[in-house]
Amino acid sequence: MTKKKTILSGIQPSGKLHIGNYFGAMRQHIRMQEEGDAFYFLANYHSLTSINDGERLNQYTMDVVLDYLALGLDPQKATFFAQSDVPQTTELAWILGTLTPVSLMEKGVAYKDKVANGLSANVGLFTYPILQAADILIYHSDLVPVGEDQKQNIEICRDLAGKLNRAYDQELLKIPEDYIVKSVATVPGVDGRKMSKSYGNTIDIFDEGKSLKKTVMSVQTDSTPLEDPKDPDKCNVFALIKLFADEEKREEVAANYRQGGYGYGHAKKELLGLIEGYFAEARDRRKELEKDMDYVRDVLREGGVKARERAETVMEPIREATGLYRSFKY
Ligand code: ADP
Ligand code: TRP
Repeated sequence: MTKKKTILSGIQPSGKLHIGNYFGAMRQHIRMQEEGDAFYFLANYHSLTSINDGERLNQYTMDVVLDYLALGLDPQKATFFAQSDVPQTTELAWILGTLTPVSLMEKGVAYKDKVANGLSANVGLFTYPILQAADILIYHSDLVPVGEDQKQNIEICRDLAGKLNRAYDQELLKIPEDYIVKSVATVPGVDGRKMSKSYGNTIDIFDEGKSLKKTVMSVQTDSTPLEDPKDPDKCNVFALIKLFADEEKREEVAANYRQGGYGYGHAKKELLGLIEGYFAEARDRRKELEKDMDYVRDVLREGGVKARERAETVMEPIREATGLYRSFKY
């Protein structure tokens, strides 16, 4: 029997999750729990680069756990945990940092983007890819399902693993395969730009009722009059409808657009109904889970134990090879 591949991915608990996160990342994570030995974690050390409010970070962390469990992450199949439950991660990140040329970090596009979007230019943000590399390497991961925007960070990770192995002339770290999920194009936000927490243009997965309706009705469209034919492929509302609708529904709506006499208001109502239907079950499940936070915390605790055990088997030989003195064992 061939050994199952280790699949690893993380998501930052830095705000409410939106449908871009769902179609771009979470849906793939949940599907892939069937295919390998999956490790999924809440990247809360990473969130500290943008959130300095303990209560808020804690709240977001629990929100993301609830979201994943409600959407179908099965803790029997995947190891689900908080990054801060695995201190070996920051230990490895430090060691990798000592082998990282400043010039490599200076090429980081995510850092430049984030600073351009108003985040403070702190050292944690600058060295974010080193911590991300440690996240991946500490479990000897094989596959890292992430969106296109994470490609450079995965390349940096592979590069750093090679540097450590060469520096100590041993296979201390496994170099993960390049694995970029190309499942959906970038999901547009209500203003037509990439949907992102930092642009305030999101449709949140677990929004509902009046608030969801208001957001969906605010999706920007052009001013083609109701009676005129419209091109569905140039419309944000249709781009969102496509994510939720089956083939038949998609064609029906596209035909309505082309025919004319079908306004953007109609399309938005269609979209609202589709979103509500798509997440209805998950929404109910989330409400049930909220009533049993002890169970939710147990999931994280057990996931943390498993993740730490695995991380320690990778970290031990690294301490030895690097000559880091240790007077205790975990
Ligand atoms: P945000 O831009 O809202 O801060 P993150 O950068 O935390 O989102 O992204 C978390 C995950 O969700 C990443 O894997 C990313 O690829 C995916 N993702 C985020 N926004 C989108 C989007 N608009 N379309 C597709 N995938 C997205
Ligand atoms: N940088 C990722 C994001 O913003 C989150 C992340 C942190 C991650 N560590 C990781 C993703 C390790 C995959 C593997 O989405």
